[in-house]
Amino acid sequence: MNMLELIDKKKRNNALTEEEIHFMITKYTKDEIPDYQMSSMLMAILINGMNDHETSWLTKAMVDSGDVIDLSSIEGFKVDKHSTGGIGDKVSLLVAPILASLNIPVAKMSGRGLGITGGTVDKLESINGFHVELTTNEFIQQVNEHKIAIVGQSGNLTPADKKLYALRDVTGTVDSIPLIASSIMSKKIASGANGIVLDVKCGKGAFMKDLEHATELATTMISIGENLGRKVAVVITDMNQPLGHNIGNKLEVAEAQEFLSNYKDSERGLFEVTVAISSKMYQLATGVSDEVAEQKIMETLSTGAALDKFKEFITAQGGDATDIYQQNTKHEIVVKALNDGYINSIDAEMIGKASLLIGAGRLTKTDVLDFNAGVKLIKLTGQSVKKGETIAILYSNKDEVEASIQLIEDAYIYTVKEPVKNN
Ligand code: URA
Repeated sequence: MNMLELIDKKKRNNALTEEEIHFMITKYTKDEIPDYQMSSMLMAILINGMNDHETSWLTKAMVDSGDVIDLSSIEGFKVDKHSTGGIGDKVSLLVAPILASLNIPVAKMSGRGLGITGGTVDKLESINGFHVELTTNEFIQQVNEHKIAIVGQSGNLTPADKKLYALRDVTGTVDSIPLIASSIMSKKIASGANGIVLDVKCGKGAFMKDLEHATELATTMISIGENLGRKVAVVITDMNQPLGHNIGNKLEVAEAQEFLSNYKDSERGLFEVTVAISSKMYQLATGVSDEVAEQKIMETLSTGAALDKFKEFITAQGGDATDIYQQNTKHEIVVKALNDGYINSIDAEMIGKASLLIGAGRLTKTDVLDFNAGVKLIKLTGQSVKKGETIAILYSNKDEVEASIQLIEDAYIYTVKEPVKNN
């Protein structure tokens, strides 16, 4: 067997075998297959696709390329979640304490942000003192004691995915459903969870721009889960506008705390996604019905148990739970409505870019974040507005803010008539 034969096979739209996929991934991880051959294979996969078996074998080969976290010394069914990436997506900061407060262990590895989408690890590091590096023993001990720990990805998890993702990024081969599905699922499986809830974002600010592709990605990941012995549930959620009011690291942690303190005042989209995902996670772990799961989630939010767990979790990882609201930037710029009317839509991608430019996100992996920078959306879709009224506030330590202001102004689309609500 050699790589040229495999490229030829995929180029002719024939399915690869488990052995062939294993060979290709093992050799590529060890630098025994060059990038130029793998690029050619990735493009053949992007064009011709993979069947469900091939995609599962690819996922398995990527899991096997590195370490697999053993969570067996944590009692109970370990459930994880993953979002395909959204603007203002602070849902992990919410569902983790919600589940932990219901006694479901959350042993979570999260990533950093790159480009317009943020990462949970960055958000947590914006809390004074919070550390995301725990040894495996500390991680397991914390979950056994507090039912919750969130750490950065450590160890040698899925090195094949790291290499492949970097190559896909520079060869125009990111947007392939089998490649995205296997990349996401390999990391989740290697992280050791028994059950995984996937939040597939759909819309302008997401990888998947329409429902058809989001559904295809969802079914592919469910099939990988079934083939590799994991319980998987998927929720497809809207990413045509940012999730919640706040975009930016400290701002998002603050919104998460406000949500847990008083969910009734939270933004409706954020509330719905949070309840949907935590209910699915609770269901996977316990097997109860939709109704019972949702009832449990509402109970822990109403009694304040989830908020207490959030504070307990921050403290356990060295963070100062009293510091969360302190917003402190050189500039606080009010962005005003350009028109009278209703807000018809807010372009998530533009808002993501506006906050990226002022340092809330990274352009390259080595960029240093400004945790205080970000955007607070005051007016949201469907609300009425008068010309000159505040629609958003930009928090920046940089003096050059014109481009960000312009992006925010352009992101807001107005309509004369009140927009029809979808549900
Ligand atoms: N997220 C991942 O982890 N991998 C992809 O390929 C795309 C999004």
